[in-house]
Amino acid sequence: MSIKPKKATLKDVAKRAGVSIATASYILNKQRSFNEKTTEKVLAAAKELQYRPNFSAKVIRTGKTNTLGLVLPNQENPFFPELAKAIENSAHRQGYSVILVDTQQSQKVEKQSTLRLMELGVDGIIWCPLGEPDAYIHQYKGIPLVVIDRSDEKKRYDTIQCDHYSAGKHIAQHISNLGHSKIGVIAPPKANTSWQLRLKGIKDYLPDSTQIVWESENPLNTEINNETKSKLLSKSASLVVAGNDLTAIGAILILRKNGISTPDDISIIGYDGTKLSCIMTPKLTTICQPISDIGATAVEMLIERIKKPDLPPRSKTLNTELIIGHSTANSSNI
Ligand code: RIB
Repeated sequence: MSIKPKKATLKDVAKRAGVSIATASYILNKQRSFNEKTTEKVLAAAKELQYRPNFSAKVIRTGKTNTLGLVLPNQENPFFPELAKAIENSAHRQGYSVILVDTQQSQKVEKQSTLRLMELGVDGIIWCPLGEPDAYIHQYKGIPLVVIDRSDEKKRYDTIQCDHYSAGKHIAQHISNLGHSKIGVIAPPKANTSWQLRLKGIKDYLPDSTQIVWESENPLNTEINNETKSKLLSKSASLVVAGNDLTAIGAILILRKNGISTPDDISIIGYDGTKLSCIMTPKLTTICQPISDIGATAVEMLIERIKKPDLPPRSKTLNTELIIGHSTANSSNI
């Protein structure tokens, strides 16, 4: 018959170190400093006894779980795992664990997962909404929240996003420099408000001689729908702006399958600057979002919000960069 080893308690650690339970607790919870000898004795005793603090007791004592919820729309899109990695790294460095929920592009799952995270007692939530956050924001009432990739004009909650309008401007300037006059646009579903900003930037800065000859809606993945495919294959546009890197890659592959070369026949521009955009052949011309900075800043803002719930809502905007790869070239008409 096997006997389950008994889990060491705080009392065991204190006894082994020859100190009071209060002293052991202060040292292990880093709540007060003691002289080096006492601290070392307590830490050594905890190590020898393989002491693990009682998480539930700590939660009851502090009312905090040191856990953050992270709600992202699609882990199949490399932008989001890269973002999740940055958020986890930054949270871990500051003593927080992260519970990640992939809503798989479903607003129903998005709603349920928020409630579940709250039931689990996370201290705060970082949320990258599928669409316009307004319809769902009430779900987050009473919990520290940072919204990624959206802005809140009414300034009711903390947000962090890139300057998508300027990114659109940089795309337009690149198109103009290459001399393309007929442009196609593969747009994500309309509810993606950060896309609306990019498109506005593109439209505001394209020269008058340049025309958007088609726009087609396509989800942000590599699967190109029939409508987008027929527009791409019509060759009516010599340059196509895609909603993100994944869609750009999908478009290049469809064109290639049909004997149309990128960038010789049609130039393609992505968005995000994911690692995939560099591995792809041809290397994508894309807008690089500072994914690590977005993640680290979101965590910083959330922890600050948890500690100071009465701070006025804050909004941070980060710059993007145009990366010129090999998927765009001069128009053959210039
Ligand atoms: O690839 C995901 C896209 O959705 C990103 O461009 C991000 O900005 C979001 O809108």
